[in-house]
Amino acid sequence: MEDKNIKQKQFWSGAGGDVWVDKQREMDIMLNPLGERAIQGLDLSGEEKILDIGCGCGATTLEIAKAVTQGEVIGVDISEPMLERATKTASDMMLNNTSFQVKDVQVDEMPRSYFDIAFSRFGVMFFEDPFEAFKNINHSLKDNGQLSFVCWQHASLNPWQSLSIQVIKEFLDLPAPAPKSPGPFAFEDKSYINEILTESGFRDIEIKDNQEDIVMFSGKSIREACEDYLTINPVVTEMLKNSPTELREEILEALIGKFSDFHNNEGLLFPSATWIVTAKK
Ligand SMILES: C[S@@+](CC[C@H](N)C(=O)[O-])C[C@H]1O[C@@H](n2cnc3c(N)ncnc32)[C@H](O)[C@@H]1O
Repeated sequence: MEDKNIKQKQFWSGAGGDVWVDKQREMDIMLNPLGERAIQGLDLSGEEKILDIGCGCGATTLEIAKAVTQGEVIGVDISEPMLERATKTASDMMLNNTSFQVKDVQVDEMPRSYFDIAFSRFGVMFFEDPFEAFKNINHSLKDNGQLSFVCWQHASLNPWQSLSIQVIKEFLDLPAPAPKSPGPFAFEDKSYINEILTESGFRDIEIKDNQEDIVMFSGKSIREACEDYLTINPVVTEMLKNSPTELREEILEALIGKFSDFHNNEGLLFPSATWIVTAKK
């Protein structure tokens, strides 16, 4: 039990988590509009108990907490630095209907039949065993409880990923991550999401196609944006982990060349494709 999701814990509670805390403003600017699409899928009365899965620095937990003043929102995550940031922000905002807990949603015990809603903004694609994780999530929901999350579609529809992998592969002879392996694109295949949710006890599953432009690294120069990009993406950092500094510098220059068509005064403006997934227990 102890040794599940080890790589993810190392990334999110290590250097990756620190970078996400440091770049929280830019990441929230990028992800807020997409998280909104999944929040819009919730039917809120204001009294619900809500689980925010892989809540990270807590932007969505706190946003939802403001909407359920008579309810409760619990954010869970494996990243200690990100949860520290979330806890501090909740306290600064004097929001007392939220709390944050270090939990691996796949393996750790969660309260049974407790939540009305399980929500996630890009926090459900990192499980070694998503079937086990979604069964755990299902058990934590009351009967008729709602599930709503947003995740990425295929990398070819999200060029920030496909172009960066193309660049790295020009320099490093590395296998691409296996399809469905834990990472941002584990849920690219709609039928796989359907299979996981059905087997985990969900019904009324809807998987909607959402395509919109996103701003990455708002206000940053092309060089800064590319430098940040190379540290924030778990797939890319894994591919680069053994590369010497000179090689990383060459990869950075090549990435700047590839991404420059997408750079403007706002930062990097990329098309994106996500799945907005809703279901019921
Ligand atoms: C892409 S980040 C998204 C963070 C946040 N939801 C947001 O939108 O800013 C993915 C999050 O999932 C968390 N995560 C990964 N595996 C997890 C697991 N097994 N249990 C709980 N959280 C997990 C990571 O620590 C990270 O905070």
